[in-house]
Amino acid sequence: MQRIPEPFRIKMVEPIKVTTREDREKFLLEAGYNPFLIDSEDVYIDLLTDSGTGAMSANQWAALMVGDEAYAGSRSFVKLVESVRTLLRYEHVIPVHQGRGAEQILFPVMVERKRAAQPVFISNYHFDTTAAHVELSGAEAINVLTPEANDTQAWYDFKGNFDLQALRAVIDARGADNVVGIIVTVTCNSAGGQPVSMGNIRAVSELARANGITVVLDAARFAENAWFIKQREPGYADTPIGDVIREMFGYADVFTMSAKKDPMVNMGGLCCFKEDEELFRAAQVRCVPMEGFITYGGLSGRDMEALNIGLWECADEDHLAYRIGQVAYLGERLRAGGVPIQYPTGGHAVFVDAGKMLPHIAPDEFPAQALANELYLEGGVRGVEIGSLLLGRDPRTGKQKPSPLELLRLTIPRRVYTNDHMDYIADCLLAIRQRTGAIRGLQFVYEPPVLRHFLARLEPR
Ligand code: F0G
Repeated sequence: MQRIPEPFRIKMVEPIKVTTREDREKFLLEAGYNPFLIDSEDVYIDLLTDSGTGAMSANQWAALMVGDEAYAGSRSFVKLVESVRTLLRYEHVIPVHQGRGAEQILFPVMVERKRAAQPVFISNYHFDTTAAHVELSGAEAINVLTPEANDTQAWYDFKGNFDLQALRAVIDARGADNVVGIIVTVTCNSAGGQPVSMGNIRAVSELARANGITVVLDAARFAENAWFIKQREPGYADTPIGDVIREMFGYADVFTMSAKKDPMVNMGGLCCFKEDEELFRAAQVRCVPMEGFITYGGLSGRDMEALNIGLWECADEDHLAYRIGQVAYLGERLRAGGVPIQYPTGGHAVFVDAGKMLPHIAPDEFPAQALANELYLEGGVRGVEIGSLLLGRDPRTGKQKPSPLELLRLTIPRRVYTNDHMDYIADCLLAIRQRTGAIRGLQFVYEPPVLRHFLARLEPR
């Protein structure tokens, strides 16, 4: 596959430490076989997340110097509002410290307004903090992802789509009066950074309108989603990316955005309302005690300046072609070498199908975690398990919840690693493929009661 060269040159570099296998064996043992507990200093290539790990551009760094740090009515806020109105056509803007900041000020006011007997939110797939905030607001989170997403080997253009039939069925079963909101997650992180088609977003929106349900776009990776629509959906090839983006946002009423992803800031987010002034006012009221005054919402003026520029930079077609091309390149190298991955690759990560690669390791011995550890030992590359360890136990029965997939996420930070790094990562995994039979499953030494994947300590069985 052709490599798309980086559409930037490098002005500043950050050295990364090369370690020996012996070093890494020691670090991994000390970290309880949990890559979350390894110091970043001891990681050569860090693929834990694409969140807050992007490289800001020279323009973003320069903008930090003109941030207006006024407590109220900052010039940097005014500029940010203008950008949101022009790029996304949303009238009302609240800056927040990150994506979950938007979730914590929005969901409770939506629940309060709906006055449902048994409130639920429905999504193609709630990201884990999104599900947590839905639950904290007293509602239930239901996912209705297209079943194609669970077949990692079969090409499907839009594995992030809603299963529309399932969506209708849930609305009917729960009653439209109980559905507080439908959350459209673009791209669908949990399914492998997979895109949602415009046709699917439109259909979801029509269904919501017909039933009086508010549509929320979880827009962390909106530009990547728009790029896939342009590439794959009939009728969009010649549409400027800005128009694709505006059409997507047009089908929702509210959007939450973790700006740490596509807009490439280290910290920041947005909670915006197209025209629902009532909800906007209610969220503003919650913003003040939770995030900060309504014109900074947990961000400094300089953060808002960098975000303002990042919003435009991430929607640049040369950037997107390179960005998504880099992820696809890593995916293709792995596939060519016989490593099973979620195919086609999505926007921000390659998801290795560890269940398929290590069939001798049972789900409750965490094959994707075992593979993450092996990858760290092989080359100092840190990925993250998305499978049974992350999912945890059913709180009622105490039994491991069944995970549809055991995935190792290799999340690619934006503009940070070169295509040579991608080759290095692929070479490491191909070397591991030669000795999968020798990789052992894991068992707990310490299992935290909640969110266990962050702090768990494990050992090979
Ligand atoms: N929504 C989606 C789809 C996300 O992927 C994330 C974060 C959030 C909301 C929450 O945003 O972290 O700024 O509060 N995802 C990161 C990840 C953490 O690694 O995938 P946040």
